[in-house]
Amino acid sequence: MKKVLIPTKLDKIVAKILTEAGFEVVQIPVTPEKGVAELAKENSDAEVVIVRSEKVPAEVIDLLPNLKLVVRAGAGFDNIDTKYARSKNIDVMNTPGANSNGVAEEVVALALAAYRKVVPADISTREGKWEKSKFLGREITGKTVGILGLGHIGRLLVKRLSGFEVTFLGYDPFLSEEKAREIGVTLAPLEKIFAEADIISLHIPENDATRGLVNNKYLSLMKQGAMLINCARSGIINEDDLRAIKAEKELIFCNDVYKKDAEGPKSVADIADVMLPHLGANTKEANFQAAKRAAEETVAYFKDGDTSCVVN
Ligand code: NAD
Ligand code: MLT
Repeated sequence: MKKVLIPTKLDKIVAKILTEAGFEVVQIPVTPEKGVAELAKENSDAEVVIVRSEKVPAEVIDLLPNLKLVVRAGAGFDNIDTKYARSKNIDVMNTPGANSNGVAEEVVALALAAYRKVVPADISTREGKWEKSKFLGREITGKTVGILGLGHIGRLLVKRLSGFEVTFLGYDPFLSEEKAREIGVTLAPLEKIFAEADIISLHIPENDATRGLVNNKYLSLMKQGAMLINCARSGIINEDDLRAIKAEKELIFCNDVYKKDAEGPKSVADIADVMLPHLGANTKEANFQAAKRAAEETVAYFKDGDTSCVVN
């Protein structure tokens, strides 16, 4: 019986599907006292590991001599050493699109919260103050929205924001003009997007090509009072460049992602107008879909040889 180690909180559907398919499931979410490495040592016979954003570096892979498959129940797999896994003939899969709607909805929530100053206005009113003029807001309707990355989340965001009658500019080197037109987006160079967009949302992976992509070269082009939303990965933005130009341009910055998903001071706290603890996919629906897909992909991988979601 193949053992599946799940060192994370995932909807119980993952264990149900795998158990019914004949797998042995060990699901023990990591704690500060017992991380992925400790759990790997205790389950060194595991052939599959399913994680969310828990890290799977080479050191963990080496603790699992029978490992054949790592599944990321989500989209971004920068938490897994995919190259090392490949060197060990270990496949890595993600669950593309499974949690995308949660993120797309979060972007709308962040844009509205920032434009209408929901957080500070709530605090002020709760304290008994009445500061309407201080909380004069902005509206999304009719604005120009720039989207970097038109994959599962980017395309869903287009659908979710369409009700606001906005103009979409998009940047995605892997998307054809025809497909972009089909989804209602005009492809444009980054220079145009940063110069013309009122709201810019990032939906690209963090990798060697995108790390530090959003830097002064583009930030300096942004319109006065424009908004930047990062629900992708923290490393895509050059934080020092953003800090340097934010006040001058009166930029609005909404953030959901950090170098480390953990308690403690956050480096962007002084420049984020709204900041959330990586909540994009943190919905019951997204957790269920990601868990279900992770289990289904694992079963299909071993029973049908389905490698369609392998990313390495
Ligand atoms: P996806 O793979 O469906 O889409 C990514 C898109 O980015 C693709 O269309 C790809 O062509 C494009 N792309 C790749 N490199 C690019 C580049 N250099 N410049 C421009 N576009 C580029 O992934 P997704 O499901 O849309 O998720 C996107 C990212 O969002 C993930 O990689 C992950 O890091 C992050 N994410 C965050 C949360 C959250 O909870 N905040 C949840 C899911 C995903
Ligand atoms: C993802 O890449 O799927 C997300 O960041 C989800 C998560 O890790 O919670």
